[in-house]
Amino acid sequence: MATEFISKVKRTHSCGALRSSDIGKQIVLFGWVQNRRDHGGLIFIDLRDREGLTQIVFDPGISKDAHGKAELLRSEWVIGIRGEVRSRGMQWSKKDNKEVSGTNTKLATGEIEVYVSEVEVFNRAETPPFEISEHVTTSEEKRLEHRFLDLRRPHLQKTLITRSKMNAATRAYFHTHGFLELETPFMGRYTPGGARNFLVPSRLNAGKFYALAESPQLYKQLFMVAGFDRYFQIVKCFRDEDLRLDRQPEFTQIDVEMSFVSQEDIFETIEGLLKALWKEVHGLDIPTPFPRMNFDESMAKYGNDKPDLRFGMPHVVLNDLIAKFGAEGGVGPMWETLQAKGLIKAMVVSPVTAGQHDPTVVKAKEEAFRLANPNPNAKVPPPPHELSRKDIDETEAWVKGMGAGGLARAKIAENGDWTQAPLFKTAKPELKQAIIEATGAKPGDLILFQFGSTAKVHTIMANLRVYLAKKLWLIPEYGSGGKWNFLWVVNPPLFEYDEETKTWAAAHHAFTRPMDECLKYLEPETFDPEKVYCYRYDVVLNGFEIGGGSIRLHDPVVQAKVFRALGISDEDARSKFGFLLDALKFGAPPHGGIALGMDRLAFLITGTESLRDVIPFPKTQKGTDLMTGAPGEVDERQLKELYVKSTPPAKP
Ligand code: AMO
Repeated sequence: MATEFISKVKRTHSCGALRSSDIGKQIVLFGWVQNRRDHGGLIFIDLRDREGLTQIVFDPGISKDAHGKAELLRSEWVIGIRGEVRSRGMQWSKKDNKEVSGTNTKLATGEIEVYVSEVEVFNRAETPPFEISEHVTTSEEKRLEHRFLDLRRPHLQKTLITRSKMNAATRAYFHTHGFLELETPFMGRYTPGGARNFLVPSRLNAGKFYALAESPQLYKQLFMVAGFDRYFQIVKCFRDEDLRLDRQPEFTQIDVEMSFVSQEDIFETIEGLLKALWKEVHGLDIPTPFPRMNFDESMAKYGNDKPDLRFGMPHVVLNDLIAKFGAEGGVGPMWETLQAKGLIKAMVVSPVTAGQHDPTVVKAKEEAFRLANPNPNAKVPPPPHELSRKDIDETEAWVKGMGAGGLARAKIAENGDWTQAPLFKTAKPELKQAIIEATGAKPGDLILFQFGSTAKVHTIMANLRVYLAKKLWLIPEYGSGGKWNFLWVVNPPLFEYDEETKTWAAAHHAFTRPMDECLKYLEPETFDPEKVYCYRYDVVLNGFEIGGGSIRLHDPVVQAKVFRALGISDEDARSKFGFLLDALKFGAPPHGGIALGMDRLAFLITGTESLRDVIPFPKTQKGTDLMTGAPGEVDERQLKELYVKSTPPAKP
């Protein structure tokens, strides 16, 4: 019967399409029952599909049969209806004691309703474990267990529809710019370096394993060697990493490689793509070119290579200043940090004046307050002007949680005195004055300090900056607040020193091209890896790294020098990267590329709370899929076939 309805009666509109211009039309809608209201005589339902909701009316005067069936309808039943579009017209309002417009201004289809002449129930539904609505209170675990129901929520439908549009716009952009969409294998040979790989045992090759591609890096370079010139791919990548807010074990990259290009050509291409995506999703023309910042400047001012530039509060490095005053400066712990070759940083937190707060945060806080305090006379607390004592205590506990010794600080009084500053009790007045000058702190400001090992101070100060910006309502907890601050972070060092192994390692990967003027530091006589900077770049948006890439080493002679600096022997290099080294010998063009994180882009562009909101079937923090139960156990026979033995630790 149901199939007959579908084969004979074709859908005319989606549930989000009908407007007052359709009044009088005979239409057919298919969808899910959102809810049912029986108004004694008339039965109303909201019918839902991915495009929206339409109010449906069952009037026994039009069809007794349809009205009878409507009495049975429940949430999430799947139905088809045929009926006439009518105006919602005027309705009697008990509250206002007069006729008011029936239009529901919150709904795109709010001007109309559909009076049913025929209804077909395609399928019934059990009562869902949670209501399919925007205002979910159900835990994320429960929702992930029933992801197919969670995905019915308009919010997730919207983000995934946006993601589909982003895919289409990306493909259109690259195809019109002469790029070829070429595929690369997921199952490859394990190569060291980079993220930890997932391994796949080979049944046909006993004792051997494939590695799931953490990115198509080597293959895309081989496409350039093969002469394909411009490549892109929207591709899944697999990394067995510890998961964070912006990381998933399988994620999607927009992967790009180009021949005969400089770094600037790649920037222009990617800026064009991001422009196209923001136009597609928000109708916005984002300004290009994006600003550039040197890696060293980014580390010094913001503590990492992905600064959020929607607000100020830059860091100031005080090492030189403390060195200048020596032990006599009077701040012992800072002097000791200097002796231990550590880092000393300060950051000024100024009072926030009206208008500096992020308007989206002000609005959201107001709404939350109104919801919690229905009394219309209740006064909404004003946005924070500065950090309260309680805020500072909370902040101190928070930085200690990151491994900080404490939160050294100084509040600058109106008369210039330093208060709340025990660390500076014995500090020379000249040193304090020099800190004021270096940081630009004014009376009323709070200066925060961190000192210790370089990496730790950078990380704590970087996180602290963002934490305080959220506390002071300068940026929202998540979402852009309507500000899109793109940035290229450029010119990082090629090598980083590994304190544990006391060796130099490639900061990105071994195939990044050093800057020509730094090549001399790879020569034995003038060898100094710390001074080798390279053509690598990250594109950053509002504090998230949305992409990264480099100009590659295509010259085997320079390649050999880089390997030597890394302590990789020719033999080692051959066994690890043999095929790429071979390829570079057979006429590799100069080339470079980049990969953008599609999930991160979608997450930022839609302003959602979590990366999971833009991935249809995401994994949890522990890398599990709560719906299918993956990863799951397999039986002995399967393992045997793969020549694998599983030895999980005994359960405690
Ligand atoms: P990279 O490792 O920087 O570069 O990755 C590129 C971009 O991919 C995104 N990304 C992730 N997104 C979600 N979950 C993850 N676990 C995850 N890991 C990375 C980030 C990142 O900027 N082959 C090189 C690119 C190149 O040199 O051309 C590469 O993969 O947004």
